[in-house]
Parts: sequence; C-alpha cells; structure tokens
Amino acid sequence: MSKKGNDMNPLVQTKEIIKTYTLGRTEVHALRGLSLDIEPGEFTAISGPSGSGKTTLLNLLGLIDSPTSGTVFLEGSQVKYNGLTKLHSIRLEKLGFIFQTFNLIPVLTAYENVEYPLLLAKKSSLQRREMVEKVLREVRLWEFRKHKPNELSGGQRQRVAIARALVNRPKLILADEPTANIDSATASEILDLMHALNEEDNVTFLFSTHDQLVMQHARRIVKLHDGVIIRD
Ligand SMILES: Nc1ncnc2c1ncn2[C@@H]1O[C@H](COP(=O)(O)OP(=O)(O)OP(=O)(O)O)[C@@H](O)[C@H]1O
Ligand SMILES: [Mg+2]
Repeated sequence: MSKKGNDMNPLVQTKEIIKTYTLGRTEVHALRGLSLDIEPGEFTAISGPSGSGKTTLLNLLGLIDSPTSGTVFLEGSQVKYNGLTKLHSIRLEKLGFIFQTFNLIPVLTAYENVEYPLLLAKKSSLQRREMVEKVLREVRLWEFRKHKPNELSGGQRQRVAIARALVNRPKLILADEPTANIDSATASEILDLMHALNEEDNVTFLFSTHDQLVMQHARRIVKLHDGVIIRD
C-alpha cells in the first residue's frame, strides 16, 4: 500500500496516557497508561467491553478531550492543550469524526450538514459547493441533498455523517461505533465505502466497535480492557 505524507512519524501517537474522571468523591480510571501508535493508512478497530475506554481514547486522539497525564502526538508534534483556537483549527483541518448517534443538525438539510465544517473553516462558496457535491456523490446521497435528517433512513443518516467527516479531506477519521445504529446490510455497505476511501485516498480510519463485521474488515485490532491494551 502506498503511504503518503510524513512517513517518519506515526500519524497519531499516545504515550503513557492516563485519563481519570472525577465524579464527586469517586475516581474513574478510564485509561491507565496507554501507549499506541497509528500509522498513516491504517484501517484499525479498537474493541473491548463496555466501559473499557474506547470512546475516551477516541476523544483523546481526536483532540476533543485532554489526558490527565501522558502525551498525544499528531504527526510527530506534541499536542498542547492550552491553545484552544489552535486545537480547533487542527481538528477542522486534519480530523473527521463519526459519532455513534450521528450528531447531525436536525434543522439543516443533508447538504447543509455536510457544508457546515467548511463554513467553520471559512472556505469560499465556490469551494464549498465543489467539495460538498463531490463527497455527497461519493456516498451516493446527492439526490437526497435537500432532505433533513428525519427524512432519511438510518443508513442514509450515517452516510451524511461520513460525508461530513470526509468533506475536508482529513488525514484521520475517528468513528465511534459507526455501525451500532444501522442494520447489517447497511453496515456492510458503509464498511465497503470506508475501505474504498482508505485504499484510494489513503484516509486513515480508526473505529471503536463491538461489531464482528467491523472487526472482520479491520486490518489491525487493538483490544482494550479496563483502560489498557491487552492485545494488539
Ligand atoms: N465524562 C465522564 N465522567 C465520568 N466517567 C466517565 C466519563 N466518560 C466515561 N466515563 C467512564 O470511563 C470509563 C470508560 O468509558 P468509555 O466511554 O471510554 O468506555 P467505552 O469502552 O467507550 O464503552 P462503551 O462500549 O459502552 O461505549 C467508564 O467506566 C465510564 O463510566
Ligand atoms: Mg463508547
């Protein structure tokens, strides 16, 4: 497989990450010293029982949350958590998210949902139009562009969420249980689409999942238990 970009460093890396949530007087140890390297072009699943830390890990890798201790590196640069504007622009430029519940904006059409990150990234209207059309055609939703989320099926909503994650052409897509709310035929179709994007455009995918189907498609499976990697 061809590898574009910076081959010297992993795309994203964690070193000895600890994440502890404090709830009143109790501490929840969600991640307990986790080190992981993700190379450009990977198609990797993170599996593990409920509560093992999968979502917490994705949120840290996606710069949505910060660790209690330890370090996250993106393309070899250490992520600093004191510059919120910088973090925000790194997220917009390099990362895409697919959330379990899709997180689409109900009052916006499919087109507008996908366009939204481009507005945040201050792309021109011409660029927006081109990028949104391209990605909506890729996920075969161009004809549905005027539908709002509640006028779409579960699989179509999931494809809008994928299109929104992809529209900026990020290097890394983080997907939290991407097939949890769709039937297995649709899940299979979605996985084929992600595979194609991985192979043709070298987009790196990192999923959290319980789904056997997703694990069968993954090239690497990282298994978590109680906030540590027990198998890789
Ligand atoms: N915001 C939070 N505040 C307190 N505890 C939290 C918070 N988020 C997660 N946790 C706890 O951290 C641990 C890891 O949670 P996480 O959501 O990462 O698990 P998960 O592997 O994604 O589980 P699931 O498969 O159910 O989605 C759990 O014990 C959870 O209760
Ligand atoms: Mg989770």
